[in-house]
Amino acid sequence: MPLVFAAAANHAPGITGRRYRAPEAEREPFFAAYAELKRKLDAARLDALVVIAADHFTNFFMNNMPAFCIGLADRYRGPVESSSLLKIEPTEVPGDQRLARAIAAGMMQEVDLSYSEELVFDHGVMVPLHLLTPDMILPVVPIFINCLTGPRAPAARCYELGRALRRATAGLPERIGVLGSGGLSHWPAVPASGRVNAAWDEEFLDAFLKNDRERLVAYRDDEIDAAGGPGGQEIRTWIAVAGAMEGRTSEKLIYLPIPAYAVGGCIAVGNLEKRAA
Ligand SMILES: [Fe+2]
Repeated sequence: MPLVFAAAANHAPGITGRRYRAPEAEREPFFAAYAELKRKLDAARLDALVVIAADHFTNFFMNNMPAFCIGLADRYRGPVESSSLLKIEPTEVPGDQRLARAIAAGMMQEVDLSYSEELVFDHGVMVPLHLLTPDMILPVVPIFINCLTGPRAPAARCYELGRALRRATAGLPERIGVLGSGGLSHWPAVPASGRVNAAWDEEFLDAFLKNDRERLVAYRDDEIDAAGGPGGQEIRTWIAVAGAMEGRTSEKLIYLPIPAYAVGGCIAVGNLEKRAA
């Protein structure tokens, strides 16, 4: 059936690892928005959640850097980071190999995907799952987009990746949702870490909420690097979700710069019944 849930959110390690370093005026509304997203996800009664995330040199390195990679495993482990850093204990996340293979086969009609049966999860997947599916019983199908190092798939290809996911899942009987995990502007592991470009974030978020395909696919790497920092390249995960919604709009649950987390806290959920004008 058509996707029954779509959303996008941040995954910065500070969200869980430095949760209480943010002032209450920032922390409370941000985690309230994550709780609201969890309620909406629970209400969707999903059989599986496709998580479109960035990898952080966890599964891939310069010897083999796929533009897109889907996980075909029945189980995953994560996070790879220490629990003292992330404040998330190592755990097992269920996959669904049969469903993942069906999705991959459908998507490959339109997008060249790599695949792997041996992926592990870092904070890019584990931070949102820790907050949204803490009991880790919902099967996950991960799709990684290379957001780290060029050449990367351009924004238009990421939008098409999302469209291919939509078409690949439409004929399946399962209730499937999609979550994009990444961005928006941030400067991880560089001297500018902690900087947030709220104006750029809001401009991107506006295009995402409207599902303004023309604007979303026009983002170029140099523009992203200059205004959104190296972490800004992760807007690809949001752009893929916009493609998966095929013209449908989204609702902002929160946007709030949180310097202690080194990112603007940003969460949006798709209005799957509405189409952009
Ligand atoms: Fe990231």
